[in-house]
Amino acid sequence: MNAKQLFDLTGRVAIITGGSIGLGRQMAEGLAEMGANVVLCARKKERCIEAAEELQRLGVKTLAFGCDVKNPASIQEVIDGTLAEFGRIDVLINNAGTSWGAPVEEMRLEHWNKVIETNLTGTFLFSQAAGKAMVAQRKGKIINIASVAGIQGAPPQFQAIGYHASKGGVIAFTKDLACKWGVHNIQVNAIAPGWFPTNMSQVVIERNKDYFLERIPLGRFGGSDDLKGAAIFLSSAASDYVTGTVVVVDGGQTA
Ligand SMILES: NC(=O)c1ccc[n+]([C@@H]2O[C@H](COP(=O)([O-])OP(=O)(O)OC[C@H]3O[C@@H](n4cnc5c(N)ncnc54)[C@H](OP(=O)(O)O)[C@@H]3O)[C@@H](O)[C@H]2O)c1
Repeated sequence: MNAKQLFDLTGRVAIITGGSIGLGRQMAEGLAEMGANVVLCARKKERCIEAAEELQRLGVKTLAFGCDVKNPASIQEVIDGTLAEFGRIDVLINNAGTSWGAPVEEMRLEHWNKVIETNLTGTFLFSQAAGKAMVAQRKGKIINIASVAGIQGAPPQFQAIGYHASKGGVIAFTKDLACKWGVHNIQVNAIAPGWFPTNMSQVVIERNKDYFLERIPLGRFGGSDDLKGAAIFLSSAASDYVTGTVVVVDGGQTA
């Protein structure tokens, strides 16, 4: 294969959880630009439909589902619908995520649980469901969206311990699943983004803009194309000998 063929995603089928907006939407666009058919799912189905219609203009097929990654039955509907339409699942990007800010001493169990269940348990449940199809195919790519918060702690002015714990868990989950499913020719990797302005991060970024920028060697926040390269690489044949790794896309923040 030449280098362009290695990165080509024409006809591949990719599910992106939380693909309606933000980083999921950006990665879905990147994969579609490389020819992949994309399946978007999130709780607000309308936003998935809107994004799917926009991405269809790139000449690929799309599907949109309402789905809560905390709910196994809801996940199975996405898997069944994808297999009914396309007959295979080549790529799963576990991107759906949430956060909750509160000092450790005051963090309520329900808020801790919501973050862990969405970010970590949701990643497990979706990987398990999609993985069954990938095992049968003897081929697949799972990309888990972690965070630099899963690699390092944050000073006391940033209080989201459940988020940090969930993303550290996503990294450990990625490494162990890579060891388990290598035998099935499934590559499992994570991406750890730094600060990208989105619905989730906007308020924190606005309040702490200068503080963050002083600590990012490239001197800017992540932009609307900055995650595409890592997502395309880890979805494509170019990464067939890469598994269990974390690609950090943070402008050098953790360097
Ligand atoms: N932005 C950053 O700076 C940054 C940095 C590092 C890592 N990340 C990670 O990147 C991922 C995307 O974040 P983002 O910044 O793009 O956030 P965002 O703009 O808030 O998007 C989050 C997406 O996840 C979906 N979602 C949330 N809970 C869900 C659930 N229970 N079931 C299904 N879908 C759910 C949302 O749709 P619905 O609300 O309709 O469900 C939405 O599509 C997250 O895993 C986040 O932790 C972000």
